[in-house]
Amino acid sequence: MMKRKNRSSWARTAIIYHIYPLSFKDSNSDGKGDLKGILEKLDYLNDGTEKSLGVNAIWLSPVYCSPMADFGYDVSDYYEIDPVFGDLEIFEELVREVHGRGMKILMDFIPNHTSAQHPWFLESRVSRDNPKRNWYIWQNPKPNGAPPNNWLSCFGRSAWTYDEKTQQYYLHSFFPEQPDLNWRNLQVQKEMRKVLQFWLARGVDGFRVDAISHIMKDEQLRDDPPNPNYVPGAINPYESLLHIYSKERPELQEVLNTLCEVLDQKEDRFMVSEAYVDIPGLMALHQACKNGLHAPMNLNFIEMPWNAQVYRRFIDDFEKSLSPDDIPVHVLGNHDRSRIATRLGQQKARLAALLIFTLQGIPLVYYGEEIGMEDEEIPEEKIQDPLDKRIPGFKLGRDPARTPMQWSAHKYAGFSDALPWLPIGRNYKTHNVEDERKDSSSMFNLYRNLIHYRKKSPILLYGSYESIDPGNNEIVAFLRKFDREQILVALNFSQEEQPLSLHFSQARVIYSTCFDREPGEMVTLGKFRLKPYEGVMYRYYRRI
Ligand code: GLC
Repeated sequence: MMKRKNRSSWARTAIIYHIYPLSFKDSNSDGKGDLKGILEKLDYLNDGTEKSLGVNAIWLSPVYCSPMADFGYDVSDYYEIDPVFGDLEIFEELVREVHGRGMKILMDFIPNHTSAQHPWFLESRVSRDNPKRNWYIWQNPKPNGAPPNNWLSCFGRSAWTYDEKTQQYYLHSFFPEQPDLNWRNLQVQKEMRKVLQFWLARGVDGFRVDAISHIMKDEQLRDDPPNPNYVPGAINPYESLLHIYSKERPELQEVLNTLCEVLDQKEDRFMVSEAYVDIPGLMALHQACKNGLHAPMNLNFIEMPWNAQVYRRFIDDFEKSLSPDDIPVHVLGNHDRSRIATRLGQQKARLAALLIFTLQGIPLVYYGEEIGMEDEEIPEEKIQDPLDKRIPGFKLGRDPARTPMQWSAHKYAGFSDALPWLPIGRNYKTHNVEDERKDSSSMFNLYRNLIHYRKKSPILLYGSYESIDPGNNEIVAFLRKFDREQILVALNFSQEEQPLSLHFSQARVIYSTCFDREPGEMVTLGKFRLKPYEGVMYRYYRRI
């Protein structure tokens, strides 16, 4: 196999901040966030000083024209900005301003499906012999009128919707308003590569590729087998099948590589992709891209039980699988999942932050994580995400994690002058940017300190990883090493104090998530006790 070599100069040192544009900052008082709002807040993200958060890349959830059946993940025009967010001119200004701050900008790229309102689909559904018919996946009903196979939509019920007019079913891995493109059709591939080229020409530094696992399906459309571990009523019905034919097909590798090749046409671009897969699945995606300009996001921490042994095993195994050119991307939350501060609670969320900022690779921060935003319960009449209604009873609606960014304790949390599209999180009086800036032990200052420390630390950016046995099942500990220098990270997963039994070793505290240790304090690790849910980063000297 051709040797992979990562040609992106910035990816290894990137800290990506994920903006959900509808909820970041509203500049025109319509209750919805927009591009000008993002422009207003760039200094917050990085003003070149250590007072700002300090991230050096942003990823925008989609801002293309969209009927918003899935809030932008249903694109009706890949070449235009939706008027809710602004226009191309403002987008270009945003790109300039981002670059002016030495930051990078990634767009969301949605290859698996378009909106049902996209002109391609409107044409495709006109007749069975329309030239665009084969741009989507159409099939005859079974003789009894049933859908062509048993595939399920991630968003509930069958993945097939019957179209009266031409009497065939079309496939949609998500909402029926999001018909799946046929990636076996080379014209489709060509058109979608053009989309990438268009935005690269406008200066974007890369993409976050949506739902990559879904783009190739089994050519014979075989039924997915049942999942033997499925417990009806207890788990999302989508999990009743093992999706071995409807997604994660081996052909995906080649197609992904063609997208990576497009990136290589311009200098220094990079993309990350969304795939909820285990370590072998992640490695397959890392290896797919021959020029190394792509990394799948590690989304495993989102679902991992809070258990030091489970975390340790995962991190060790993942680290062992990675080759030196692979860049892992560690994620704690996103616009589809419950927020980390809700899933784990504020204290553990601090520990998780220390973890992703001290592992090798790219830490990815979902907006609001850095101020401890939590899920907000949405009253029924204010629900926006249709998922709640399609799969009732499982609390799968994604609105709770998409509430407006909490800028201050003022009205509407400083997000907008008008009633926001989703309610403000109830902890906004205590968890907001303005107030957290002033509190040296706030989540904001934890994130800010970790980000700035990481950016200056060759050990954290380029160092190798070495797992160590802390002699305690409640602790995850590892070393990062670079040029004979070492940083030791120790995380106490338990709610009790825990001794860190690394004998005959001394270390200096660099940073503690509990904030009440003196940086620079010399400690002897055999005698050191980590506080409940405390994470500490030390400068490490192996022997006294
Ligand atoms: C991804 C997005 C999610 C969207 C889905 C369909 O999982 O993160 O928000 O609904 O793809 O595009």
